[in-house]
Amino acid sequence: MSHPARRFALACTIVLIIPLGHARTPVASGTGGAVATISEQASQSAMAILNKGGNAVDAAVAAAATLGVTDPYSCGIGGGGFMMIYLAKDKRVITVDHRESAPGSVSPSVFQENGKDSDLDTTIASGASVGVPGTVRGWHEALSRYGTMSFKQVLAPAIGVASKGFPVSENFRRLSAENQKKLQMFTSSSALYFKDGKPPALGAVLKNPGLARAYRDIGAQGQKAFYQGPMARAIVEAVARPPVAPGVRVRAGTLSMADLANYEARIRQPLKTTYRGYEIVGMPLPSSGGIAIGEALNLLEGYKLKALPRASAEHLTMEASRLAFADRNAYLADPEYVDAPVAGLLSKEYAARRRTAMNAERAGPKVLAGDPYPFQNDPSVPQRPQAARLMAENAHTTHLAVSDKEGNIVAYTFTIESWGGSGIVVPGYGFLLNNEMTDFDFGGPHPNVPEAGKRPRSSMAPTMAFKNGKPAFTVGSPGGATIITTVLQTIVNYIDFGMPMDKAINAARLSQRNDALTETEPGFAGSAQALALEKLGYKWNPKIEEIGAANAIVFHADGTVTAVSEGKRHGVGSALVQKSAH
Ligand code: GLY
Repeated sequence: MSHPARRFALACTIVLIIPLGHARTPVASGTGGAVATISEQASQSAMAILNKGGNAVDAAVAAAATLGVTDPYSCGIGGGGFMMIYLAKDKRVITVDHRESAPGSVSPSVFQENGKDSDLDTTIASGASVGVPGTVRGWHEALSRYGTMSFKQVLAPAIGVASKGFPVSENFRRLSAENQKKLQMFTSSSALYFKDGKPPALGAVLKNPGLARAYRDIGAQGQKAFYQGPMARAIVEAVARPPVAPGVRVRAGTLSMADLANYEARIRQPLKTTYRGYEIVGMPLPSSGGIAIGEALNLLEGYKLKALPRASAEHLTMEASRLAFADRNAYLADPEYVDAPVAGLLSKEYAARRRTAMNAERAGPKVLAGDPYPFQNDPSVPQRPQAARLMAENAHTTHLAVSDKEGNIVAYTFTIESWGGSGIVVPGYGFLLNNEMTDFDFGGPHPNVPEAGKRPRSSMAPTMAFKNGKPAFTVGSPGGATIITTVLQTIVNYIDFGMPMDKAINAARLSQRNDALTETEPGFAGSAQALALEKLGYKWNPKIEEIGAANAIVFHADGTVTAVSEGKRHGVGSALVQKSAH
């Protein structure tokens, strides 16, 4: 382990103030490769790799590593994720599941105290919330199976950004301030992200030499540098003895060297369903994203949405999501631990039955889960108990999309769970550890109860759509459970309402997840759209904040592509193409 004085020097990073760079462009059309991320530096890293001849997988890892520097509160090597890859030559989609897993010490009662669920906030900011990070292993599998470049090559742009620094955006400053209390519980996090106890100023250059070092080690030694040796020992130590500020007490975790050394990513077949002539390819379990979106789309296929008044079509979209969430909450969890009735939930016949529970005229009440078992067509899957108690879910993460000139595509969502994850920066290595264990439902019996080695249920939903066997578009978003509603709503905006993808993404977001109240965004209340929905019985959750930060690429019939990021959320995203149409 590094000497404490050296760790302090590595962590002291905020140096001077420079003007912010040029404005980002959230939409770009042209030919060749394309990228859309929420970070200008991340999109540039992907483009640098594409321009050097790398493929979409190489470029996606380059972008993701850079996001770990510029958007560290959403994602990084201390977390996990789901990467969906379309291989143009083989015309097939595979997924790399590198979701965090529960350490071997975890049992179903780990988050129970005196018969009650542990307090969520104190669990988040602790060593106990940290799952075995999967990101580096996922990148390794993606690069070694489907990439063309080495770790050293693809991490080079991110090492440059971490070493030279990046200008702090308003978004970064705000997130630092909003999460200051949690981050300052840990000395390593305070030293990296705060100066004199204050969040970094807008335009200050933030360097992360510790993360540059971690990436250099991974570049030199491969994934072993993360899962074995000094970096692994630093992770284990940070979980067992979180580096707390004087007077702070947090719960420790037990994540062992064996947990790290034994971590494996999984190559999983994607889920496939159809919607109005498109083949929709989604993420399978342990993410609930693909199943919930597929079920909601199946429900919506029974209505001619584009012939309806907009408020009625939006209402039906929210009712479909309400029903899909009731099922998701009851049945879905890690498929290596639970036999979830996936075929039943995605069957068109089940959708026809379940549609009878939809109220086409008014916002419905909370609904119970349906019974997909008669439609399961797989007798090996037994009946499971329904949800007992559900945890509140946080809403962060990041998503990126990349394509290359050969037609390969990557849709990649990855996370450290809450903003700033557990709040613990691994001393000397400059990355935040996740709090993914809080994506389990604490109180059993429930399919998503914590168990040793199990992956907590996710909502991440990297999605690809094909028409006549050819890629049509790809989309995904961060936002915890709102990922599902954001991706669903963007698909409906694009396919049913015929919006161009930038309008589909920028449209106001509404998130109905089988709750009495529906979540909305700032500026929505009082709008004509809000008033029209209120007439149908909608009531808005008083918690109003941005929902999601989607990124997409559209593949046009003439061979051109349009990369699309957010035009206003998360400080405006960055879309680039290799050869611009303008
Ligand atoms: N932690 C967010 C998700 O997995 O959905």
